[in-house]
Amino acid sequence: MKLWKGRFAKASASSADEFNASIGFDQRLYREDITGSIAHAKMLGKQGILTPEESQQIVQALQEILADIEAGKIEFTVESEDIHMNIETVLTERIGQTGKKLHTARSRNDQVAVDFRLYLKKESAAVDELLSQLLDTLLALAKEHQETIMPGYTHLQRAQPVTLAYHLLAYYQMFARDKERFCDCLTRIDRLPLGSGALAGTTYNTDRDFLASELGFASVLPNGMDAVADRDFALEFLNCCSITMMHLSRFCEELILWSSVEFSFIEIDDAYSTGSSIMPQKKNPDMAELIRGKSGRVYGDLMALLTICKGLPLAYNKDLQEDKEPVFDAVDTVKASLGIFTEMIRTMKVREQKMAEAAKYGYMNATDAADYLVAKGIPFRDCHEIIGRMVLYAIENGKALDELTIEEFHSFSDAFGEDIYEKIAVRSCIEAKKSAGSTSFASVARQIADIEAGK
Ligand code: ARG
Repeated sequence: MKLWKGRFAKASASSADEFNASIGFDQRLYREDITGSIAHAKMLGKQGILTPEESQQIVQALQEILADIEAGKIEFTVESEDIHMNIETVLTERIGQTGKKLHTARSRNDQVAVDFRLYLKKESAAVDELLSQLLDTLLALAKEHQETIMPGYTHLQRAQPVTLAYHLLAYYQMFARDKERFCDCLTRIDRLPLGSGALAGTTYNTDRDFLASELGFASVLPNGMDAVADRDFALEFLNCCSITMMHLSRFCEELILWSSVEFSFIEIDDAYSTGSSIMPQKKNPDMAELIRGKSGRVYGDLMALLTICKGLPLAYNKDLQEDKEPVFDAVDTVKASLGIFTEMIRTMKVREQKMAEAAKYGYMNATDAADYLVAKGIPFRDCHEIIGRMVLYAIENGKALDELTIEEFHSFSDAFGEDIYEKIAVRSCIEAKKSAGSTSFASVARQIADIEAGK
């Protein structure tokens, strides 16, 4: 039944009904919709807009409808267009005239806005929990790999030796900021739009503070037109999702590279790998590739909603019905990606030996050799030049820097002493870092301790 049929002389085309309906996707909001309606009915009762009996009858019927939806006993219809009118229709079928009073002092515009915010509050908590699990996993791995030495890269060229713990803690910090970002976004989601009516408020003596406390919102949106028209909270949420996916995607890119024979730094567990239908030897990192691919999809969700909102005159426009699918898609994708990713890194095998071998070659101690000369009083630029020439010489002679003889060292600078070998050993290069937040073993231990102390 169309709840708005009064003004129309003839029925809408069924193709228009199909096109207009959102029930196919917004049924996901049934719980939030009923929660919002129960609070609204209680408020109407408390304010004397409905009698206490009417209010109670509605609340009870809504609770039963919720249970019946969950038991799969209610079928939604395209005819009733969206989740709001589907539930109201069922309510009226069940309790008659009283059901028709629920929508007093309310519009679907503030109803959908409150449903959407309640939904995002719930999903923010779910994403937060998944991020916590990822952070715990990263921290545990970092603790385990404080002595695992590997090449650090810039331009994907071997740059300076680091520990795997240091590399993992870099991601720890990124995901910790993602968690912060979701929490911060939540403070703006957590504001009540209900009670705004269609756009201009209502003529009833409603109590929006009561609605906020019933529904657990931290505050009441101060302007009704803003409350029903804007979706910036959903955009912020999609932005948080996009940045998280970007971080996951970068990490996945590394896992894909690291699991190639060329790197052989890790092996992804069989449980999170797939085979090839034609090449029997293949073991592919499909989960990591899919997460990398799905990051594009989540960016698309953000772009879709930004574009949907950009030309809308105030206040509500039906374009806003298009806000839900991108958000639902992003929520599903981020949650699935975080879950799979955490399991994938928890179970992957780290090939410490391969990492250590890779760290030996590539002249990654060249900066440390330059620093050695700086300590002898030579200006850094000159040291850079000297070591650069030494590296070229060593490459031509197929040697690592620490494989050059002391005579060879002396042919580049008299300042070299026998202690140069000790100073440019891979482990010393890591140990010698002194700046706060460096890869030195002591600094990494401090970073871990700070995280554990909640700093
Ligand atoms: N299904 C609609 C949506 O998702 C609900 C709000 C409809 N409001 C209206 N004035 N037609 O946006």
